[in-house]
Amino acid sequence: MAKNKSPKERIEELVKLIEYYNYMYYVENNPVISDYEYDQLYKELVELEEKYPEYKLPNSPTQRVGGQVLEGFRTVEHKVPMLSMDNTYSAEELIEFDERVKRMADVKNLDYVVELKFDGVAVSLYYENAQFVLGVTRGDGFRGDDITENLKTIKTLPLKIKYKQSIEVRGEVYIRRDDFEKLNKERKEKGEVLFANPRNATAGSLKLLDPKIVAQRNLQIFIYQGFLNNGPKTHWEILNFLKEIGFPVSPYRKLCKDINEVIEYCNEWQEKRFSLPYNIDGMVVKVNSVDLQRTLGTTTKSPRWAVAYKFPAEQVSTIIKDVIIQVGRTGTLTPVAILEPVVVSGTTVSRATLHNFDEIKRLGVKIGDRVFVEKSGEIIPKIVKVIPEARTGEEKDIPFPEFCPVCRSKVVKDVEEVAIRCPNIRCPAQVKEKIIHFASRDAMDIEGLGEKWVNIFVDKGLLSDYGDIYYLKYDDLINIERMGDKSIRNLLEAIERSKTRPFANLIYALGIRHIGVHASEILADEFSSIDQLKNATIERLSSISEIGPIMAESIVEFFSNEENLKVIEKLKKAGVRMEKEKVEEKKDILSGLTFVITGTLENYSRDEIQDYIKKLGGKVTDSVSKKTNYLICGMEPGSKLQKAKQLGVKIISEAEFEQLVKERMNK
Ligand code: IVH
Repeated sequence: MAKNKSPKERIEELVKLIEYYNYMYYVENNPVISDYEYDQLYKELVELEEKYPEYKLPNSPTQRVGGQVLEGFRTVEHKVPMLSMDNTYSAEELIEFDERVKRMADVKNLDYVVELKFDGVAVSLYYENAQFVLGVTRGDGFRGDDITENLKTIKTLPLKIKYKQSIEVRGEVYIRRDDFEKLNKERKEKGEVLFANPRNATAGSLKLLDPKIVAQRNLQIFIYQGFLNNGPKTHWEILNFLKEIGFPVSPYRKLCKDINEVIEYCNEWQEKRFSLPYNIDGMVVKVNSVDLQRTLGTTTKSPRWAVAYKFPAEQVSTIIKDVIIQVGRTGTLTPVAILEPVVVSGTTVSRATLHNFDEIKRLGVKIGDRVFVEKSGEIIPKIVKVIPEARTGEEKDIPFPEFCPVCRSKVVKDVEEVAIRCPNIRCPAQVKEKIIHFASRDAMDIEGLGEKWVNIFVDKGLLSDYGDIYYLKYDDLINIERMGDKSIRNLLEAIERSKTRPFANLIYALGIRHIGVHASEILADEFSSIDQLKNATIERLSSISEIGPIMAESIVEFFSNEENLKVIEKLKKAGVRMEKEKVEEKKDILSGLTFVITGTLENYSRDEIQDYIKKLGGKVTDSVSKKTNYLICGMEPGSKLQKAKQLGVKIISEAEFEQLVKERMNK
């Protein structure tokens, strides 16, 4: 410890020093000490805080690694609503905005502040006594979520500022493109769903309940608005002041004396926007005078004193070198254009989806064509149009595939669907995609079983369907290159853990066409086991709200396929849970109730329903008596119905019985 300093003083000193070095490193991009020196100071602080927890400061940089897992977010009302902004798309529209504002404010000249429009997530931050105390999402504009703990992990967000009065500031949280790409790469390897763009990655990260994971996402923030009592008279000065007291304010702001200067600055950034390491989707133009902002006021949706100038999606021309056919999980053949690599919206693009063969016809595109490519919010870029003037006559038609490029099966075209499919469910391409899907996060969530290993395991003959996952053995895996003892053990443990995933996840994991996460949840609500779902008819399925006829047909088709049934048997034998989890947990929800059954039921055989009722603690008897609580009445009921009516026993349908179970389950 430094000489002459008490632990308390040294802790305070270290917090100040480290935050200053953080600020210089992350905000100013100007490190003033070496990483080694920084690490030493940080280590000293961690040790002191452990030894003297009573002196730990709420704004300590050690708080940024994320603390406790949260159960949910508290809702907080905004002091001032967080509005959206009107958009403009051209210089003409900016001039109209300028004229309108001048007319309303009754002035001849107006100066504006022009800023970058960061493509991230808006947040509101509160500071009291110089400390960061609360951070809230935009939510519906009037109330948002308290995400303070997640925001504390953002290294560019000051936990302490050089200003003692209470202050609210607003800004945009974002993730840099390189960090976004790194994150998606990691997710792909783990078999997790990819984020479509950096904005979604930011929003997804801020919603996480575990701040420790948020801390790893390397989120960033810029502050663009501050509410100060008796503060400066212009927005320009407010921004400078915010910067002075320690907030990260973007250096790319400009005070413009008229709308022409505004337009010039907007055009300048439209050109060079991809030189930034993060995404911006336009510029924001704000009336500089705070008094005039107040005079102009807001509509219910947006302020009248500000407007966004949105950049058009960047379109870049390149050449289609080839078209390959990808085979998806359900056998759908998707044409993908291989491009001469070009930089579009800041990233290099070498492929673009052509969606299907109707799209190829619609675009009239050929191999060798020069085309315009655009990246509009999604990961996969698309081809917008062909440039026919650039044709040389050498271009070749894209052949309509008759055979699957992977297994050579003859393709089929679905009636009423544009897609063509490979009908061979043993096709290696389908097998791989199905296994990747089965192991993915929203399905069985088998960590470590991502695309890379699935490809290898299938190619080595270790997996030929997802049922085989549960029969992988240590000895099979140890000979595979780059599979070490530790990773094998982790993988086998993850596989074991996946056996008890919720029923809805299992349904989704099966990869039934048209059945996504939401539909799987509905089905898991409606059916208590895979056998019940298997026996359901199209009529029964399509009577469920939100399950349409196409889904119903697809489910029935899935379960009428012998191969699929074999795989399901494999899963069952391996001990994968294939029924609703709550049944086991809430054994006695029907205890004290006696049931009699008459007629034919749709979802259960007699044995099945008897077992089910018994499992839930109820009793089933053969004949109706005064002691009977419910008669479950199916189709073509027998004399028991008459008897129940005579005795005044409650008569319920199969659906009402299921409703009764559901209600008691949820209690
Ligand atoms: S000022 C509503 N300044 O754009 C007026 N907003 O479309 C106050 N945004 O929700 C906002 N960069 O998330 C402002 N420099 C900037 C901005 C910015 C991005 C976002 C913000 C807002 C959205 C409105």
